[in-house]
Amino acid sequence: MGLKPGTNPDVEAATIQLNIDGKTVTAKDGISLYDVISMTGKIIPAMCYHYTFDPFGSCGMCLVMQEGKKAPVRSCTAKATAGMVIRTEGEDLFLARKKAVEKHLSVHPLDCPVCDADGHCELQDMAFEHGVTNLANAKQKFIPEDTRSPVLDFNMNRCIACAECINVCKDVLMIDALQFMKKGGFNQVVPKGDLALSCEFCGDCLAVCPVGAITNKFSKYLYKPWQMKKTTTTCNYCGDGCQMYLETKDEEVIRVTSPLSWKNKWGDRSETAKGHGGLCVRGRFGFEYLDGKTRLRQPLVREGNRLVEKPWLEAMHLVVDRFSIIKSKYGGDAIAGLVTARCTNEELYLFQKLMRIGFGSNHLDSSARYGHLNFVHASKHALGLGRTPNDWEDLTKAKAILLIGSNITETNPLTAVRIKEALRVYKAQVVTLDSAVTNMAKLASHPFVIKPGTEGMVIHGLVKATIELDLVDDETTRKHPQAFAALQAAVAGLSLDDVASQTGLTTDNLRDIATIFAEAPRAIIMCAEGIVRRAGGYDNVLKLIDLAWITGKLGRPGCGVNTVTEEPNEQGAVDMGVAPEFLPGQARFDDPVARERFAKAWGAALPVSRAGSSLVDILNGCKNGSIKALYVLGENPLETLPASMEVRAALDRLELLVVQDPFLTQTARQAHVVFPACTYAEKDGTFTNLEGRVLRVRQAMEPIGESLPDWHIMTSLANALGCQWEYQSVNDIQSEMMKLLPGYYNLGQPRKVVPAPDRYLENGYAAEVAVRYRTMPISHDSARPFSLQMGQLLMHSGKMSTEAPGLIKIAPNTGRLRMSPADMDRLGLQDGMKVRLTSDLGSLQLGVQPDQSVAIGTCFFPEHFNEPPVKDLMSVSVDPMTGVPAFKQTWVSIERA
Ligand code: SF4
Ligand code: SF4
Ligand code: SF4
Ligand code: FES
Repeated sequence: MGLKPGTNPDVEAATIQLNIDGKTVTAKDGISLYDVISMTGKIIPAMCYHYTFDPFGSCGMCLVMQEGKKAPVRSCTAKATAGMVIRTEGEDLFLARKKAVEKHLSVHPLDCPVCDADGHCELQDMAFEHGVTNLANAKQKFIPEDTRSPVLDFNMNRCIACAECINVCKDVLMIDALQFMKKGGFNQVVPKGDLALSCEFCGDCLAVCPVGAITNKFSKYLYKPWQMKKTTTTCNYCGDGCQMYLETKDEEVIRVTSPLSWKNKWGDRSETAKGHGGLCVRGRFGFEYLDGKTRLRQPLVREGNRLVEKPWLEAMHLVVDRFSIIKSKYGGDAIAGLVTARCTNEELYLFQKLMRIGFGSNHLDSSARYGHLNFVHASKHALGLGRTPNDWEDLTKAKAILLIGSNITETNPLTAVRIKEALRVYKAQVVTLDSAVTNMAKLASHPFVIKPGTEGMVIHGLVKATIELDLVDDETTRKHPQAFAALQAAVAGLSLDDVASQTGLTTDNLRDIATIFAEAPRAIIMCAEGIVRRAGGYDNVLKLIDLAWITGKLGRPGCGVNTVTEEPNEQGAVDMGVAPEFLPGQARFDDPVARERFAKAWGAALPVSRAGSSLVDILNGCKNGSIKALYVLGENPLETLPASMEVRAALDRLELLVVQDPFLTQTARQAHVVFPACTYAEKDGTFTNLEGRVLRVRQAMEPIGESLPDWHIMTSLANALGCQWEYQSVNDIQSEMMKLLPGYYNLGQPRKVVPAPDRYLENGYAAEVAVRYRTMPISHDSARPFSLQMGQLLMHSGKMSTEAPGLIKIAPNTGRLRMSPADMDRLGLQDGMKVRLTSDLGSLQLGVQPDQSVAIGTCFFPEHFNEPPVKDLMSVSVDPMTGVPAFKQTWVSIERA
């Protein structure tokens, strides 16, 4: 796909003038005539055109008359040129378009009453608009439906061969899972090779299909369009924050649809840089848990070994009494709280307020502690920015993207689509550095597989190569000569040869990558789980900031160091102050001015100004008995953390464990009281996505059973504890937050932020950097030759997606260890054979399966599943600066069992 000059950020496109329906129109040179016409506000029929990919020109609907031509022209494939005189309406055009509709309908089954697209079908609309009634020559196709895919059915009797599905999959998603194949005298869409569909199951092909030829297995025959209520909301699986429509019928979620559809074909390429409106498999097909059978419907109270259903009043009274007793006996410091970053901003704000004011405790944390806080702290320390500086548009239009420690198509698939667009449309150089052969590596211009755990060492090499090759931006470094001299001194002892031998790269690779990054006018670093969720994460982000600084990429438009967030509101959790070190707005908890401001606003004193505990210390506090009560909201430490953290022992010692969750998680099973909480579909609020956009979450259905929104439960709890909270709705909480965090509710707009490194570079940088580049050879016992990694699969998100039957159907827990086929051959292993997997912490048996994306010398198990409990083999190292526990990688031996 070529770049339309009109949207190339590097070219000032020439403007041209043409005449459309008697009016002079100015347009950018090089774009399609159809785009120019639609920009005037006129919508002409088009059944095979979509602005996200190049025109295909098959349907014959977008006809216009061009002066000087006898026959109508297809406006989608025609380029607008200066001086054109175009007519878009007239009896002749109407009849020509009508003929095209008749042609399509003549081979189309008129099974509209049972078609999922009934009422949302472009062919129906066109037949209606053109008054098509005469189908005397209709001939039926008798093509059997292809139902082999777990989520999509293909009914090719209805296909109009517009190729939108094929084009979106090939051009936009770069997956290319579909093709045309002539069968039974008709061109049909089939999965590649006419096999069962094997793809990422994003459903974007379904979204753009203008008829009912591709249908959603989960919603088939369940509705007529007029029975559905459509609620626009934000996906709660990952930090991309995709907008989606939850469609419900009688309180049952029927399907999820996307802003991407055949209907939104009128736009230009610069719009797709902001997101094409599609979804990934999790967002589109992972909705069944919302009203599923496993939802908690009633509060549960422990009676002996059992959790027994109780009325809300009784359960709440019990919790309030026991919290009050613990607080008066031991003080607020004996109470701690953990919350999931799947909660809304409003709930996260209330959570920290409840912990600090209701309980008088600063022992609180969120799932942002699993990694995102490494990025936030490093970026805040160096740049004064507690979030990413770039948005999707910057990413799409970057000339170089350094993707390090990230399997982005699995973790953040729609951010990945923007990188694909950067590659394909804007011709960016994309460098991938990961210890797996990721999907993005298969597309990247410069893919590199590195040895496991060497991400930090790679950054050493890139900084060293940048200085050695004099790729340094003099203007930037001249401003801080002492800092630059300190950095030069810090890397002076490094040798590129050593870095190369340790990382698996060559010295030339390191020099090439450094050159690509330094020379690109717009260059973005994207680091993810391989950096922020691993040991040394904080330091490694600081080193990436060093690299961006010396190449002049800090603060330059379209440049910066970024990360992704795995859960939907990790950024919001930090911004709302759900961490012992932060108050809302990322004010420091020990900042006297901020403390005073919040204490005044909340009408109560904050806990004493000393460090509270974060996740690991909270669990230690539970274990050593200093913490007596734990309030767990949506978190599930028992299933998430390895056995070496002794979470079960920590929970067992508690006098009170209260869990609030939509599901009876393993942690909830240990609780004294369980409150049934609503999902995001049953409440209002906002999430803050990885770009810093505040996005609306809207209630789509009534709460299931007696479950309640988290904000509602917390308000009741706080009031019963003696607070006087008057929140009647989420709006009331938002009003309070707006006063305390002016400007935060930017609703939908990315907040433009500018990094400010000067203070850091002038104060303390030299001392810090002196130790940052000290190298520790990555050594491990040769008896444990394999790097075991746990990480995310595209089809899942944390443990929550395992409650979604659709996603489990696509990606069940195989219980198997994934290995590279080469290693399996070497060890004489075949698919399904049992092995013994042994780390320093234990041993277990499990089956193996080959996986081409697993690099030689590594093995992988999906973190979503605990059967078998592979996580218990992982050791934990806690970052001394940020308290982030790293537990996703360890060394193991593998033997045939
Ligand atoms: S579901 Fe997505 S990946 Fe699969 S064929 Fe359709 S567009 Fe392609
Ligand atoms: S399946 Fe739908 S989108 Fe694909 S070619 Fe047929 S009509 Fe077009
Ligand atoms: S990319 Fe993330 S936010 Fe978007 S649909 Fe998928 S899981 Fe949801
Ligand atoms: S929209 Fe132009 S030919 Fe189909």
